[in-house]
Amino acid sequence: MSGSDLQFTVTPGGQLHGEIRVPGDKSISHRSIMLGSLAEGVTQVSGFLEGEDNLATLNAFRMLGVQIDGPHDGNVTIHGVGLRGLKAPTEPIYLGNSGTSMRLLAGLFSAQAFDCVLTGDASLSKRPMRRVTVPLEKMGARIETSEAGTPPVKIYGGQKLSAIDYPLPVASAQVKSSILLAGLYANGQTCVTEPAPTRDHTERMLRGFGYDVQSNGNRICVQGGGKLTATNIDVPADISSTAFFMVGASIAEGSDITLQHVGINPTRIGVINILQQMGANITLHNEREVGGEPVADIRVQSAHLKGIAIPEDQVPLAIDEFPAIFVAAACAEGETVLTGAKELRVKESDRIQAMADGLITLGIDATPTEDGIVIQGGKMQGGVIDSHGDHRIAMSFAMAALQATDTITIRDCANVNTSFPGFVKLANTAGLAISQ
Ligand code: S3P
Repeated sequence: MSGSDLQFTVTPGGQLHGEIRVPGDKSISHRSIMLGSLAEGVTQVSGFLEGEDNLATLNAFRMLGVQIDGPHDGNVTIHGVGLRGLKAPTEPIYLGNSGTSMRLLAGLFSAQAFDCVLTGDASLSKRPMRRVTVPLEKMGARIETSEAGTPPVKIYGGQKLSAIDYPLPVASAQVKSSILLAGLYANGQTCVTEPAPTRDHTERMLRGFGYDVQSNGNRICVQGGGKLTATNIDVPADISSTAFFMVGASIAEGSDITLQHVGINPTRIGVINILQQMGANITLHNEREVGGEPVADIRVQSAHLKGIAIPEDQVPLAIDEFPAIFVAAACAEGETVLTGAKELRVKESDRIQAMADGLITLGIDATPTEDGIVIQGGKMQGGVIDSHGDHRIAMSFAMAALQATDTITIRDCANVNTSFPGFVKLANTAGLAISQ
């Protein structure tokens, strides 16, 4: 079966049980390769996510002459070359489905001595890049994209970058991080101001590598011209991957599951806050800090969920978890309303439309709006769902089967491997019945 034909067939019913550890955090894994490569010395990473997106980042740095050993069971050894040690690639750098790789690397590569071209798959080739090219050009970068502002992204090296003070038009950690990475090389102090807090893994990890980052409220600044010193990184389990299990265990009566060693960075816990507001029974245990990131074990027991108006301040804190949250809303009593989430339309798919279409197929009353969705909780039937090649849409609908009356078949599931290799096996261990 070819990649795009990969289907999940999920038998209805079941419960989730046990103690599981989902794979490593995607955002932190990307940054570990980037900063480890730019550091002086050898960085050891454990818990690295061996998903296709992160392997794309890893491969990019190998193409730029960095020796990277692994991954072997989540262990990676990076022989850092220093901020000025990257070498010109001999061909375009293919980044697959990974928007994070493309946007962050666009910032970093804008400051290098060499030219390079960044390409991606069909989905990434439709995603907006002006959000990074506009501020980077203000810093003095020379970048070309398609006329629509989409990949391929051609970056001309040898430019001298100057610091900027940039108010982010969208709450985006990718844009923030892209500018901060370019700022490491700029003349002066580069500052970004966020309209709302977004994930701060770049800032935390830069500090972990000994680079001073000033944060004052929503304003974050770096001074160009410093250096990164190698360190070791223990990547926690990805809260975004636990979201499917949090929703599955919440909606399937009798479930009781513990998700181990999960990153609970305050800029990532919108999914917990939102599900708890809906009435979910989620408790945090054994809270600790690992390598500058807070971590906990998360216990989820089934609960009677109620529809809510999702507070807009939670949107950036749960930006990747809405497909799963929409499944929770479909199983909740009453209406759930999401607003202020236009960004969902430019993720790996148009997640508002893709989720609305899928929920409607399952007999749920779901109405997409320009910047969100309105979902009436109800009884889900079975059906055939198109994931549009979006990993999170595929995994969300797999969980929906726990509460559906008939089999759910999900098409185009190969990209689950971008963020969650081993999903089917782990989900089946926990109590789902997926065949592929
Ligand atoms: C990410 C930031 C988010 C998120 C993506 C990972 C990151 O994107 O959706 O999956 O690692 O910085 P935006 O910054 O575009 O919201």
